[in-house]
Amino acid sequence: MAKNPIPEHVPPEMVRDFSLFTSPGMSPTPNGDPHAAVACAHSGPPIFYSPFNTRDGRGTWVITRASDQRRVLQDTETFSSHRSIFASALGESWPMIPLELDPPAHGAFRALLNPLFSPKRVATLEPSIRERAIRLIDRIAASGTSCDVMKDFAFPFTVHIFLHLLGLPEDRADTFVGWARDLLHGDDVKRPAAAKVIVSFIDGLAAARREDLADDFMTFVVQAQVEGRRLTKQEVRGVGVLVFVAGLDTVAAAIGFDLAYLARNLRDQALLRCEPDRIVLAAEELLRAFPTVQLIRVAMKDIDFEGAPIRKGDYVSCATMIANRDPAEFECPNTVDLTRQDNRHASFGFGPHRCLGSHLARREIIIGLEEWLARIPAFRIKKGTAPITFGGHVFGIENLILDWS
Ligand code: HEM
Repeated sequence: MAKNPIPEHVPPEMVRDFSLFTSPGMSPTPNGDPHAAVACAHSGPPIFYSPFNTRDGRGTWVITRASDQRRVLQDTETFSSHRSIFASALGESWPMIPLELDPPAHGAFRALLNPLFSPKRVATLEPSIRERAIRLIDRIAASGTSCDVMKDFAFPFTVHIFLHLLGLPEDRADTFVGWARDLLHGDDVKRPAAAKVIVSFIDGLAAARREDLADDFMTFVVQAQVEGRRLTKQEVRGVGVLVFVAGLDTVAAAIGFDLAYLARNLRDQALLRCEPDRIVLAAEELLRAFPTVQLIRVAMKDIDFEGAPIRKGDYVSCATMIANRDPAEFECPNTVDLTRQDNRHASFGFGPHRCLGSHLARREIIIGLEEWLARIPAFRIKKGTAPITFGGHVFGIENLILDWS
């Protein structure tokens, strides 16, 4: 990856050879362990500068202490979310909404969307989520003693629930997952192509719903009002693209990392199988140990932060995977302890942008683990195979072949 020149205001002694994209263990590599690769950031200072910590090789400051990350994420006047990360792939600059808006504009849109993903709404979905998990897993169990758990379970399980929730055509699930994969983990050709096709799909869907109302998410968005007015076409696009991208493969990745851990740790696997009541607590620890989304903010003004001369326009990385391994917050942070209590992990972020879909994500992860462990006997990673993992802004996993013969 090309390194951008280190800005003059960054003291050379604050520069470290670290990147969420290219550190050892970041991938795509078989058996790469992106979480372990990131955990090493704690052996150093509270903040350092990485010269190539974004997809386009841009440098960022890296905040390593969870309490400092919370300060950054709460202080939206100094550290803005306005980055147009998706639109920039198209050479444009509109924000994904509400993710790339700062307060106060952020609040109006967030208030609009909150009821759609509330705990109450998610509770009504629980029976259909469970039914879907059981159907998929029963089919896997009936067809043999091995499967690619991402292709056969994690993706079809989570993506169909999400598409159903949004009222999107479920028969296009594989196409949508392919777009998300190209967008999040693709190269410089695939990424803009995926961005283009997603925008065109969302714009087309919005136009169709304006013409012909339905009982679905996009109809809600095109009819919604913020501050007494309808959303502009660009705002509808910003909301549609964000929700589509944010919910499509994040939960599948979480379930994949969890099952990969359990496949390698048979004692923990047996514990959860024998005592399924522990799964709710265990799911929090697995979320802590294997978070998937990292956060970036941009400085709106010069500020000296824990000895670092952050200057207006600098990028500041608050990686959840680093916060979640902070020894000041978690005893033995690199040990996965499925009985860990008071687990204040950062996996769903912190502050005003805390994940909108966290209630849905949690329910899916818990139900997925409960039904998998109830139906599949002791499983391991199939001999001779190794899962492929991705580092980057959103960590991913694929090709996870499990075997229970
Ligand atoms: C395990 C799965 C998931 C993880 C780990 C995750 C993580 C996160 C994180 C860390 C943020 C904060 C981003 C920031 O502050 O810059 C976030 C925001 C968001 N997430 Fe999730 N997410 C997950 C699943 C979902 C799902 C299923 C949805 C579906 C709707 C979703 C929708 C969103 C939205 C809309 C935001 C932006 C919220 C705002 O800006 O106010 N997420 N997510």
